[in-house]
Amino acid sequence: MALLAAEQQKPADASDASFLARALRRIKPSATIAVTDKARALKAAGRDVIGLGAGEPDFDTPENIKEAAIKAIRDGKTSKYTAVDGMAELKAAVARKFKRENELDYKPSQIIISTGGKQVLYNALVATLNPGDEVIIPAPYWVSYPEMVMLAGGEPVQVDSRMEDGFKMRPDALERAITPKTKWIIFNSPSNPTGAAYTRDELKAITDVLVRHPHVHVMADDMYEHLVYDDFQFYSPAQLEPRLYERTLTVNGVSKAYCMTGWRIGFAGGPEPLIKAMAMIQSQSTSNPTAVAQWAALEALEGPKDFIARHNAVFKERRDLCVSMLNQANGIKCPKPEGAFYVYPSCAGTMGRTTPSGRRLATDQDFVTELLETEGVAVVQGTPFGFGPAFRISYATRTEDVEEACRRIQRFCGNLK
Ligand SMILES: Cc1ncc(COP(=O)(O)O)c(C=O)c1O
Repeated sequence: MALLAAEQQKPADASDASFLARALRRIKPSATIAVTDKARALKAAGRDVIGLGAGEPDFDTPENIKEAAIKAIRDGKTSKYTAVDGMAELKAAVARKFKRENELDYKPSQIIISTGGKQVLYNALVATLNPGDEVIIPAPYWVSYPEMVMLAGGEPVQVDSRMEDGFKMRPDALERAITPKTKWIIFNSPSNPTGAAYTRDELKAITDVLVRHPHVHVMADDMYEHLVYDDFQFYSPAQLEPRLYERTLTVNGVSKAYCMTGWRIGFAGGPEPLIKAMAMIQSQSTSNPTAVAQWAALEALEGPKDFIARHNAVFKERRDLCVSMLNQANGIKCPKPEGAFYVYPSCAGTMGRTTPSGRRLATDQDFVTELLETEGVAVVQGTPFGFGPAFRISYATRTEDVEEACRRIQRFCGNLK
């Protein structure tokens, strides 16, 4: 282990690019966090800004969940490490959740609790990817998927969809993307960023393809499962196609439906050897997710759920407002998604046009920059999600603000020449 004398003398200078890992050269910072930060800075400088960038509910964590956390602290249940892969009580509750809501049987040894859904996904990729392994990612996709795949040493393979198909991947496009090197598909329905959710038949057409390719594993990101509207019926891939059970990691968490993004609890059920490998990574990196947050998540999963329907009624009203108002804006086309709290309009009709200040819009980045500067509306450009020119609106913010933001977008588009 002894270092050569010359190496020992080298200064460890963090400003030197060679100090940073080469793997970092492949990835970029999150565009959604960047726009949220920019909107926050403008607001702090006194500008009237409506932020439609953040991917988290505007509702507070329900009282019963907060109380459960406070009680756990008072009862002295939070001062020690828990089991690395999650408390037995929470794992049992997650097993009941999968059974009750998804008709999926997972034993506690097939379940892991992590620090948010994000850590679940990242652990799974690090646990399985070797250089050259391919991961299919249907586009538009959540910005973190390709970056996580690359950090873990794999190759993201984008499969495009069309707005005319409601941003849902066609089965033949999936079929064409599968190679002998395909290890995973990351399947996210309802989707961030489009809100698109696959119906039973649409999902069946996708799982039929996957059944024919037994070497492909399925990372089912069900994070937005409960955020669906108009009586939409949600199915998880392994629920609809039991032949995929053995090779599916079903990922979920409390962040979105339970308004708990800050608590950082995600979970997954899957094949025991995979879960064990993920737990090993967790044991040597972060250890258990925060104990108090695990007690809160337990209450979320086992306690009353009536607030979800109440929140969904508000989300649905905002979705309908966005779709209707954006489709009246010049050059904007906005499909009506089935779920999540996002809409994903195309701004192709504004490309090549000019703002009153004389700026020509050539990309969706130009569109969102000009929109923020002239109208104080922060949205995220589509390109980092793998489909443009478009932008993502998160309507998880006050209804009055959503309405005012759409009015400003209409004015912005109406003023383009
Ligand atoms: C599609 C999708 N998956 C996973 C996550 C991660 O959720 P968490 O906040 O629990 O890490 C997010 C969060 O934005 C998401 O949009």
